[in-house]
Amino acid sequence: MLLSRRSFLSMAGAVAFGAAAVALPGCGEGRGSGVASAASAASSASATADAAASSASAAAASTSASAAAASSSASASLASPKSDALVIYFSRAGENYGVGVVEEGNTSVVAHMIAEKTGADLFEIVPAQAYPEGYDECCDVALAEQNEGARPAFQGDVDIASYKTVYLGYPIWWGDLPMCVYTFLEAHDWSGKDIRPFCTHEGSGIGSTPASIESTCAAATVGQGLSMTGSTAQNSRDRARASVEAWLG
Ligand SMILES: Cc1cc2nc3c(=O)[nH]c(=O)nc-3n(C[C@H](O)[C@H](O)[C@H](O)COP(=O)(O)O)c2cc1C
Repeated sequence: MLLSRRSFLSMAGAVAFGAAAVALPGCGEGRGSGVASAASAASSASATADAAASSASAAAASTSASAAAASSSASASLASPKSDALVIYFSRAGENYGVGVVEEGNTSVVAHMIAEKTGADLFEIVPAQAYPEGYDECCDVALAEQNEGARPAFQGDVDIASYKTVYLGYPIWWGDLPMCVYTFLEAHDWSGKDIRPFCTHEGSGIGSTPASIESTCAAATVGQGLSMTGSTAQNSRDRARASVEAWLG
């Protein structure tokens, strides 16, 4: 089932999708800081490399690329570093807003592009308990977790000690990081790391998530984020790759 814009709007409250740098008054209501900070950060979202957010409506071109075509594969337990850079990401396959049912999540597509371009290792944050494949069901679970300040467990692990740069990728869920990403961040020592956040979303932009990462990983330096609509990542890969390359510099 392809979800209508309306169904997400009612689910998310007053979320305005599709426009660049929109505020997310509905998403984030579950956590005290979410609404105000997402709204204020939205005005600075144009400072991110979000070429995609401003052109979400053009994300109609389909692509034949699939998860299997990704050049590097992520690991849920990464033992031997090959690089001093690491891409860590969370992403969910299944049904999602604007893209239908996908085999590879939108953020995963971007994560693999970054790894391909930089030669960085890849680590996927895989929740111990999978999120529902259905979009509405997943929204319900994610909101409940956010309201509770849950810290869902993840599978496997990676020793980040030898990495200097960490590209950290996630979807925006209710204006925030998915709670399982917080679980991962809080379980590691970020001293001396350069974190470069990247996200996919469907209209709210990266919001206050870099600031949340900064306060969660206090000993790290958090660089400028990349934000891109999930539908661009999924359906307009050349454009997505160009945004990634511009962001990487
Ligand atoms: C539980 C849930 C909550 C979401 N909340 C938001 C939101 O607050 N703002 C937004 O722009 N998009 C929201 N989305 C859309 C996702 O951010 C977007 O589809 C993203 O590309 C998904 O990435 P993934 O495929 O890597 O999981 C939400 C999607 C889900 C499943």
